[in-house]
Amino acid sequence: MNFNDIQRDAVYEAIHNRRDIRKFLPTPLEEDKIRNILLAGHHAPSVGFMQPWDFILVTAPEVKHQLAEAADKERRALAIHFAAEGRDDKFLAIKVEGLREAPLTVCITTDPTRGGDHVLGRNSIPETDILSVACAIQNMWLAAYAEGIAMGWVSFYKKSDVRRILNIPPHIDATALLSFGYTDEYPDQPILEKSGWAKRQTFENLLHFNSWDNKEKKEGSR
Ligand SMILES: Cc1cc2nc3c(=O)[nH]c(=O)nc-3n(C[C@H](O)[C@H](O)[C@H](O)COP(=O)(O)O)c2cc1C
Repeated sequence: MNFNDIQRDAVYEAIHNRRDIRKFLPTPLEEDKIRNILLAGHHAPSVGFMQPWDFILVTAPEVKHQLAEAADKERRALAIHFAAEGRDDKFLAIKVEGLREAPLTVCITTDPTRGGDHVLGRNSIPETDILSVACAIQNMWLAAYAEGIAMGWVSFYKKSDVRRILNIPPHIDATALLSFGYTDEYPDQPILEKSGWAKRQTFENLLHFNSWDNKEKKEGSR
């Protein structure tokens, strides 16, 4: 663990410039790059080293089509929640997935039973299994960036739909759908920020010192 400046800058560049992408080119993905990305996921930290993930690689057009239909059903159902604020048309105009176009979609799952009844650490906070999978997803996102491949995280779906389409057993959580592909639109800001839907929070407003109610940094104060 002794990075030179170029290596350190490369890590921060990937962290800051990585984007969620929903538009993909049909260009095929190289097998070795996909393997690197999946291995980056597999090398994520996990509670009690339980490694609760599996990766379902979806390339068949018919299966992609079914996943896209499930996501679209959910997107339209969710629009109603924004109707009261008059934001439903704006919401429906935002592209929230690229499941049909992306050459590869990976369904990453969480197996809460992996590691037995008493996984070290998970006894206290059960959701640490899914948190471990979130770490794997972020690793894959950064690895994809390093490989020049775009990734999109899709969570617009009912888990029961994805479970049925991909034949996932009932005890396994269908945690995320991740689309991968090359793109010619890699924005320098989050797409939701560009479209005026949401803004990045001011970092300083999120800092607390020694106690939730202390937002001013004073040495030795609580
Ligand atoms: C848990 C999670 C679920 C997400 N689900 C979706 C989704 O269903 N559709 C989508 O377009 N983006 C989804 N995103 C991407 C976010 O919209 C995106 O990360 C956020 O707008 C910030 O943009 P950036 O990732 O480009 O920095 C998801 C991200 C996370 C972390």
